[in-house]
Amino acid sequence: MSNDEASSTGPLRAAIIGLGTWGQNLVRSVHGHSDVIRFSAGATRTPDRARAFAQEHRISMHESYEAALADPAVQAVVLATPHSMHATQIIAAARAGKHVFCEKPLGLSSEASEAAVRACAEHGVTLAVGYNWRFQPALQEIRRMFQDGRLGKLMHIEGNFNGPSAYRFPRGHWRHDTDEAPAGGMTGRGVHVVDAMLYLAGHIDSVTAQSMRLAQDFGVDDTTSMLFRFQGGATGYLGTVIATAEGWRMQVIGSRGWVEVGDVEHLSTWEMRVCLVDPAEPLKRNRPQTVTFPASSTERAELEHFARAALAGRPLAVPGGDEVHNVAVLEAILKSLRDDGARVSVR
Ligand SMILES: NC(=O)c1ccc[n+]([C@@H]2O[C@H](COP(=O)([O-])OP(=O)(O)OC[C@H]3O[C@@H](n4cnc5c(N)ncnc54)[C@H](OP(=O)(O)O)[C@@H]3O)[C@@H](O)[C@H]2O)c1
Repeated sequence: MSNDEASSTGPLRAAIIGLGTWGQNLVRSVHGHSDVIRFSAGATRTPDRARAFAQEHRISMHESYEAALADPAVQAVVLATPHSMHATQIIAAARAGKHVFCEKPLGLSSEASEAAVRACAEHGVTLAVGYNWRFQPALQEIRRMFQDGRLGKLMHIEGNFNGPSAYRFPRGHWRHDTDEAPAGGMTGRGVHVVDAMLYLAGHIDSVTAQSMRLAQDFGVDDTTSMLFRFQGGATGYLGTVIATAEGWRMQVIGSRGWVEVGDVEHLSTWEMRVCLVDPAEPLKRNRPQTVTFPASSTERAELEHFARAALAGRPLAVPGGDEVHNVAVLEAILKSLRDDGARVSVR
């Protein structure tokens, strides 16, 4: 098989950029488990910290991101780096002709995010953003239940995503820098719930937000909440508290019933509760039913989805798509916080 044939049939040869907590988790999710993508190279700011891990996974470490981009054997980069670096690193990858999977968020401003998406389109490389919640079987089933009418019309979504992040990271850590993590837990956690909401209810029209720091005397806000109005007419609210125990929950409410998902681990249980109503018999009380799905890895699913698109030359994140809109929602939240909770249109 020639090199060209090998490169279009896979596995996609990727470089992992950033080998901190999540970069290592992404590598583990596919190594030994996937024929579609494998990490053959890597780069990180302090290679010594990642040396043992790289050896274990047979990842050859480059001395810099630029060196990884210059490696002809690397077809794609997977960015698991601090948020402020994402947009610039995506543009550099596009210019080097490498497909890019970037951890969330895509960027910290609409302008930078749009420039990153444009660069990928101009250079003909595939871009994906790490919104792995979409690969939860339960969320996919909820979407189907609205598409085929079982839940009726989507009217309201509420969600929260909480955990001990503020306690986990010490003073001075990038996660406590408001330039890296504006709006408290939004970039670390809340953007996942926003993405799940976009997946189910479409784009957001306007937002009002509040945010404060209540538990510690340093770092980013720990208690952030907001109200959404969706372009399709539905309403929603979201809270993220990052100085408490781990857990998340979403309840999606339609005109024929509701569905609830969530757990206390990080995407490790695979069930949902469903309760339906017949509008012709509103007094008949149905018990909620628990629906269980087979366990799966959302990280592996998202990376394989990216790899298949890259190998086929298919675009994923595109101008005006959910990944860019999610950043516009974040910007509107920040504007609302500056304007003391005013309702702000998402542009
Ligand atoms: N999808 C999810 O559920 C999920 C979960 C967790 C995190 N994430 C995302 O994954 C990305 C990485 O998060 P993480 O928790 O893995 O972070 P982390 O543990 O701090 O790792 C960050 C990596 O980037 C490198 N790095 C390069 N420049 C840096 C700089 N200026 N400051 C700090 N680190 C720098 C670090 O190298 P050194 O160690 O040498 O500094 C490290 O290898 C973020 O976008 C985050 O939002 C996603």
